[in-house]
Amino acid sequence: MRDFLSIADLSADELVNLLERSAKIKADPQSVATALAGTAVAMLFEKPSTRTRTSFEVAVGQMAGIAVILTETDMQLGRGESLEDTGRVLSRYAEAIVLRTFGQDRLDRLAGAADAPVVSALSDLEHPCQAVGDLLTITERKGALAGLTLAYLGDGNNTCHALMLAGALSGMRIRVACPPGYEPDERVSALAAELAAAHGGAIEVTDDPAAGPAGADIVYTDVWASMGQESEATAREAVFPPFQVNAAAMALAAPDAIAMHCLPAHRGLEITDEVLDGPQSVVWDQAENRLHTEKAILLFALDR
Ligand code: CP
Ligand code: NVA
Repeated sequence: MRDFLSIADLSADELVNLLERSAKIKADPQSVATALAGTAVAMLFEKPSTRTRTSFEVAVGQMAGIAVILTETDMQLGRGESLEDTGRVLSRYAEAIVLRTFGQDRLDRLAGAADAPVVSALSDLEHPCQAVGDLLTITERKGALAGLTLAYLGDGNNTCHALMLAGALSGMRIRVACPPGYEPDERVSALAAELAAAHGGAIEVTDDPAAGPAGADIVYTDVWASMGQESEATAREAVFPPFQVNAAAMALAAPDAIAMHCLPAHRGLEITDEVLDGPQSVVWDQAENRLHTEKAILLFALDR
């Protein structure tokens, strides 16, 4: 069994296998209709979620498993029980644990104490399940991933980090355009650059908003202020507008470029209605694909 705390936990072959399996499951959901029969998955959310929570819960149910959704406020965790003890106990009831949390260290601590494999449903550092769903969406639209250019405009955040690592493993060119001071984490950038060099891809970071989307096959953005950064929202709204994904940005990309957003979107801030609702947008497929990829991720973690 395997923890899935970071895209960097995967080899390039394992990522390919996850994507191929996700596509097969999407084409034939019945093929995994009993794959989790009698298997419980505990899901602990310390931050809000619409897509991740629903897709995991439905994924477990559609594979005949038992999904247990937990939030900090209704657990003893919220009253001081340690994360480690919570992991030890949950491992006695559930075969896998999914955690959405703040620091990546909380995922590491839970995984260190729990006997059950732990899957990251997002931390401040990374959003690995999102990146797997995103690569499935890109594959559906563009075919092979290697050689594609993905421009990420906006905050060098958890979603960006996971995309950098997943794109690097897939031989893609990931170009991040962000305001100075909002670049991706240096360690993640260094690791992504290393992985990209090994797999024929490239990682670029620029503060030039026009250089970002130029000629790109995929233009991606995410919120300017992530969960936990609400107090910075106003300051961020002052510096991020040049990095908005709008019709002008899309016009710089390849004519057949697709526009992506992990959602939730703040319409009129990081992305305009015309792009989100326009013909190049694939955001609803992205959201749907979370369901299919969550199934493959759970089966990977459980070695089924
Ligand atoms: N994209 C994503 O993870 O959305 P949620 O926060 O709604 O889960
Ligand atoms: N970067 C966003 C992603 C939400 C799915 C956040 O962390 O809030």
